[in-house]
Amino acid sequence: MKVLFIGDIVGSIGRNMLYDYLPRLKRKYAADVIIANGENAASGRGITRAIFDDLLRAGVDIVTMGNHTWDQKEIYDFIDETEYLIRPANFSEEAPGKGMTTITKNGITMSVINLHGRTFLPPHADPFEKADLLIEEAKKISPLVFVDFHAEATSEKIAMGWHLDGKASVVVGTHTHVQTADERILPNGTAYLTDAGMTGPYDEVLGMKKEDVIYRFKTNMPVRFEVPKKGRAQLSGLIVEIDDLNGKAKSIERILINEDHRFEG
Ligand SMILES: [Fe+2]
Ligand SMILES: [Fe+2]
Repeated sequence: MKVLFIGDIVGSIGRNMLYDYLPRLKRKYAADVIIANGENAASGRGITRAIFDDLLRAGVDIVTMGNHTWDQKEIYDFIDETEYLIRPANFSEEAPGKGMTTITKNGITMSVINLHGRTFLPPHADPFEKADLLIEEAKKISPLVFVDFHAEATSEKIAMGWHLDGKASVVVGTHTHVQTADERILPNGTAYLTDAGMTGPYDEVLGMKKEDVIYRFKTNMPVRFEVPKKGRAQLSGLIVEIDDLNGKAKSIERILINEDHRFEG
């Protein structure tokens, strides 16, 4: 099975970039399953029902989330109605939605798990323990397991990669919005990348208008960050091939498209 993963989609620029490129990427890489992190899809903050539906129509199979999961309150109304939108599994037991789902394409089933780091982030439940519990469950269905670990610290993400080596088919980090260049297949067959990077504005700070971010750094004054609607865009992600029989990764390749793609709002 070939899986295409798209890093944090930020605002309309990110969504438009995805809509432009997804058909081409799907064809080029013959991707069976497309997973995208959508925690910033609605103006940088969360996701709406309309945007979620648009992503599915564009060809995304599963949307994962992160620390911005609850920013758009309407998610409470639809997260329990779909199998294809998951939020970090180690959120409170009280939280709506779920942190693991499965997808079957061309007769092959894969589980997809979303986890949240807790270094420099809110103190959620232990993501390592949660990963073990969920993977044990997932393995009853299929050896193919994909993990999006939404975390700030590179060390926590690398630790998760090693912790899940041989247990998950793929461990990819999200959240920092900056793609790392450390893709590899770990010794026991887990494809690993510390951060997939983001899909959104190319000339800003992590997708937010740079003037506002600079002002905040200079003055420490509160500023509401905004995602611009115009400008150059980038798309970040990765493509992984997984052995259908044993769930081990066969190849991993980063995708980074930028600079020449301008949207006029
Ligand atoms: Fe993000
Ligand atoms: Fe995030």
